[in-house]
Amino acid sequence: MLNQKSFKLLALLLALVLMMVACGGGSEEADTTETDTTDTTDTADTTDEEPAAEEETTEEAAEGEEIVLRIFGGNVGQEKELTEAVANRFMEANPGIRVEVIETPDFVEDRLGTYLQIFEAQSPEGDVFQIDVIWPGDLAEHFVDLYEYGAADVAGDHFDAIIENNTVDGKLIGIPWFTDAGLLYYRTDLLEKYGYDGPPATWAELEEMAMTIQEGERAEGNPDFWGYVWQGNAYEGLTCDALEWIASNDGGSIVEPDGTISINNPQAAAIVDQAAGWVGTISPEGVTAFGEEDARNMWQAGNAAFMRNWPYAYSLGNAEDSVIAGLFDVSPLPAGDSGAGAATLGGWQLAVSKYSEHPEEAARLALFMASYDEQKYRAIEGSLNPTIKALYDDAEVLEAAPFFGSLYDVFINAVARPSTATAPQYSDVSAAFFNSVHSVLTGEQDAATAFEVLELDLQDILDQ
Ligand code: GLC
Repeated sequence: MLNQKSFKLLALLLALVLMMVACGGGSEEADTTETDTTDTTDTADTTDEEPAAEEETTEEAAEGEEIVLRIFGGNVGQEKELTEAVANRFMEANPGIRVEVIETPDFVEDRLGTYLQIFEAQSPEGDVFQIDVIWPGDLAEHFVDLYEYGAADVAGDHFDAIIENNTVDGKLIGIPWFTDAGLLYYRTDLLEKYGYDGPPATWAELEEMAMTIQEGERAEGNPDFWGYVWQGNAYEGLTCDALEWIASNDGGSIVEPDGTISINNPQAAAIVDQAAGWVGTISPEGVTAFGEEDARNMWQAGNAAFMRNWPYAYSLGNAEDSVIAGLFDVSPLPAGDSGAGAATLGGWQLAVSKYSEHPEEAARLALFMASYDEQKYRAIEGSLNPTIKALYDDAEVLEAAPFFGSLYDVFINAVARPSTATAPQYSDVSAAFFNSVHSVLTGEQDAATAFEVLELDLQDILDQ
């Protein structure tokens, strides 16, 4: 017989057992059942997984020969060919890696759109991206810090100002690849023919010379001849051209480094009105739809006396198949009221996407592409300005592109667009600016009216 005490003890024991069943033992049993199933699955999984892991290793080994790196770059002039050549050299030196060069749109804003789609999807489809000098501030979040991948050893070889431009919060988000500055191309043979000693020093001189040569060449039977071709489409290239006009006329740089919106001033308005006067007189009506390549095509066909363009047009103009080979030279752009010409700073960097599956190899590729030897190759073959200082003392480079030496000051004093002062709104600022200038070029309004409105738009964009 159980007395009350023993009963209580028994009940307690029973409760304990039940508790154990509920919390541990029972679940153990349940687990065992499940484990049986799970185990089977697990075993199946493991069986599956192990070969899978093996496959991966094999795949990696196979992929060791097949790591694919994609460079997203430009194809203005001969850019794509030049990039493919460097990609081939990299592949020879790195047998495990295949490099593909993906062509992107010529116009900067279209190219930016392509890149943003990839970044917004955090897609690994691109590894190395050719990025514009105006983008570091807007795009930094999508790129690795190249200082973590060996760039510290070479950064000091490049122009300090470009390294600084590409450094965001202490991170080097792009290794400089080539730099750009706006130049005036002029036909030496035609200047001589019409009795001019040298290129125009001022915009007024350019107007006069362009008109004289244009009239002369047309009278001699070339109805397609124009005085001056440049970039007048509503896109980033027009921001570059118009900034040059305005800076050369003491009209500021749209938004100043301290953030002051300066565009609404009479000096800026006067020179943009003056440029509007070129459309249909010394420049074709169609110039308001021209990009770099449209201007170059007309120039290289022998149908223009002057052209505003970047250095890349130099080697193409002197190529064997070019009708103007040996018949032109380059000079600084003409001056307005400031007494000195101004060149907009352009140029491109190589950045490695954060979403790349092979950042290590991609960074190796970017640094290889931007190395001394490769920049030298591009300088000689493509007249693309190096960002490595020592290349401006390299005899072979100077022989291929003598203006790298004679116009050195133009390159190092080029005027920056306000991309740092307005980041991350630069693209919007520039679009407001080039649309406003374009409306003046097409005769919709005068520059004073356009810039009054532009000032208000910029205040909105910049929240001032
Ligand atoms: C050139 C310049 C670049 C600029 C572009 C405008 O590619 O290097 O900085 O934004 O032209 O069209």
